[in-house]
Amino acid sequence: MQLVIIAGGLGTRLRPLTLHRPKALVPLVDRPQIAHILDALPPSCDEVIVAVNYMFEQVRDFFRERQFGVAVRVVEEPVPLGTAGAIKSLQRWLNGPFAVYNGDVVDTIEFDRLVAAHEKAQGIATIAVWPVDDPSAYGVVAVEKGRITRFVEKPAKGEAPSNLVNAGRYVFEPRVLDLIEAGHAVSLEREVFPRLIEHGVFPYRYEGFWSDAGTLPNYLNAQRLLLDAGHAKISPDADVTAGSLRPPVYVAAGAYVEGRVGPHVVLGKACRIGRASLRNATLLEGVSVDDKAEVTASIIGAGAAIGEGAHVRDSILGDTVQVSPHATIVDERVTA
Ligand code: GTP
Repeated sequence: MQLVIIAGGLGTRLRPLTLHRPKALVPLVDRPQIAHILDALPPSCDEVIVAVNYMFEQVRDFFRERQFGVAVRVVEEPVPLGTAGAIKSLQRWLNGPFAVYNGDVVDTIEFDRLVAAHEKAQGIATIAVWPVDDPSAYGVVAVEKGRITRFVEKPAKGEAPSNLVNAGRYVFEPRVLDLIEAGHAVSLEREVFPRLIEHGVFPYRYEGFWSDAGTLPNYLNAQRLLLDAGHAKISPDADVTAGSLRPPVYVAAGAYVEGRVGPHVVLGKACRIGRASLRNATLLEGVSVDDKAEVTASIIGAGAAIGEGAHVRDSILGDTVQVSPHATIVDERVTA
């Protein structure tokens, strides 16, 4: 079965990281987000079609250089067509029932089980769902007698029909394409799903973990889940002998650590950490952190430098940002 990955969004909520790279290629535990999806596909997935608009060339070049054991076609949308418009624009490439994944979700879904559930239910669509404590930021489904009967996008607190949210993983019958208008932006979640209900839409639940990775807190949550699930690693080519690591952490090759790192920290290649303290954070490649600095709940862009005694919390720093010694950055988005 073919899998469409919709990965054409602007990723505004992860700016400034997404000003120079598409969200699909933002590293998550040292691998582009989209690579986590490709890694988990079984042989029964015989083709992946990636629908991209924003920064198409970067995604195309990435898949030219990297092999994943499955054929990958990267298709450019001339203009952003929304989550359903993107699928409609691929109609000529699709040749039967097909799966669709959002590009900015990491989880433990098993492709074969999702497909088997769809084949068994015989509806027009199967939508994977995941229970969350607070569904107000998500698309929520109402389920009655084993069928999805209603969709509520981002319900006000207390008005959600359930705690089950759309997990961004679907299988569709080809006739879904006839219910999406061509040539303009259409939202799968807001416009198409409600049209599908009378044709039979079934929920699919699975075990393990699930996280959206499209906002700072969700990205850090996704990183935490991956580290807890066995993605933690200290490269043999990193020098951590002078540091104090609190697992789980991921330290890439060429990194040098003197300070306290962890839990839930990812250091990209060639990061240099002085006698600083890092917790629940991602440092992309080549970041330096000087003595007595503290970084928590933040993503630090490639090549950034954090001066002595500086504090960075709940923030995203773009590539090459320089933070002055003793500066305090809280809940900010900083561009170089
Ligand atoms: P924000 O700007 O931060 O809201 O991010 P986003 O633009 O990526 O939107 P959102 O997180 O809602 O998108 C969910 C998924 O759909 C992501 O994998 C996006 O890349 C993808 N997506 C959103 N809009 C489009 C679109 O117009 N075309 C394509 N191909 N994919 C889209």
